[in-house]
This record gives sequence, C-alpha cells and structure tokens, in this order.
Amino acid sequence: MTDETQTHDGDGETRRDFIFIAAGVTAAAGGVFTLWPFIDQMNPAADTLAQSTTEVPLDSLDEGMGITVMFRSRPHFVRRRTAAEVTEATDVDVARLPDNDARNVNIEDGAPATDENRSAVTATVADGVEVDPAYARSILVTGANCTHLGCVPTGGEGDYDAWFCPCHGSHYDTAGRIRRGPAPENLPIPPMTFSSPTTLVLG
Ligand code: FES
Repeated sequence: MTDETQTHDGDGETRRDFIFIAAGVTAAAGGVFTLWPFIDQMNPAADTLAQSTTEVPLDSLDEGMGITVMFRSRPHFVRRRTAAEVTEATDVDVARLPDNDARNVNIEDGAPATDENRSAVTATVADGVEVDPAYARSILVTGANCTHLGCVPTGGEGDYDAWFCPCHGSHYDTAGRIRRGPAPENLPIPPMTFSSPTTLVLG
C-alpha cells in the first residue's frame, strides 16, 4: 500500500497533506473539494441548538485529508487518517499522556484515551447500516477549539504533524490528544452516528 503520510509542498519541505476547508466557504480549485454540511438551524434558541445535528458526507474525503465543519455553532475537525497516522496514535502509552481521558461522549465516562476510543469506530451505527471497522477507525472527529483558551489549532503542524495551537504552543497528536503545551485536555469527540457506511451525523 502506498504510504500517503508524506507529501512535498511547494517549498520542497516534507509534510503531511492536511487540507482544511471551513464549512460555508467555497473551496478554490486545485485538488481541493468543497463539502457542505447540513446544519439544521438558523439563529436557534439554546435548547434548539443543543438538539441540532450536522450531517457530514465522508465519501469525498480521501486518506490523509481533513475538513472543518460547523456543529452546534462550533468548528469541528473531520479527518480521514492514514494507516500510518492510526498506527502512530495507537502505539502511544496512554499512561504517559497529559490527559488520559478519551473525552468521547459516545463511550463511557472516563474511558482511557486510546486511539480506538478516540476514533469514529466508537460512533453509533444506524439500524441496517454496515460500516467497515477499519474505515471507521481511520475517521477522527473532534472539536476544533483548543482546550486551553479556545483558539483553532492549525493542521499539519507541531511536534506530531497533526494540530498545533500557535496561541500559546499546544501540540496535539493524530488522535487529537494534547501532548505538549498548556492545553489541559484532549480535543473533545462529539456525539456521532453512521447513517450510511460513509456518512456521519454529528449530534
Ligand atoms: S488557546 Fe491554544 S494554547 Fe492557548
């Protein structure tokens, strides 16, 4: 299998191919695609907002690509990780992480922050839908606000070539776990359900 974890940018530097597209912003050409999530509300009351969902079609997301979608008025990272990224995150000793908690509302409180417990393999699967476990494991969905003071980290940066928050220097790994810097917690995993083999509904 081709290792897609490394690409060369225009400056000749080697780095992972992170492509992030803010929801609601039309993407430019040049290999970038646009993914429009469906947000079920306009100017909602707080209780309505709390019930809202965002549908995220994943079928245009190639390995090694990520997008940013809005869910309940907050940006969220959606990334289809490469096998190498999953392996890298799996091989980490959870006991040595700054935050051992999976921070995943789809599983029990306090579950350890293993890569499996962070991935979309923990998502609910709608009746009659079959999802390839390896595919689900490759998908990572997290809140996109740094758990320090809320800045949005930059993709493909930092010590782990994953996410780096430049505001005060927090480094997150390929499972969205805080590894270094002042952020106290891993990026949170939202509630999610596979409504088809390649569609996730957040909420
Ligand atoms: S807001 Fe991200 S490190 Fe401070």
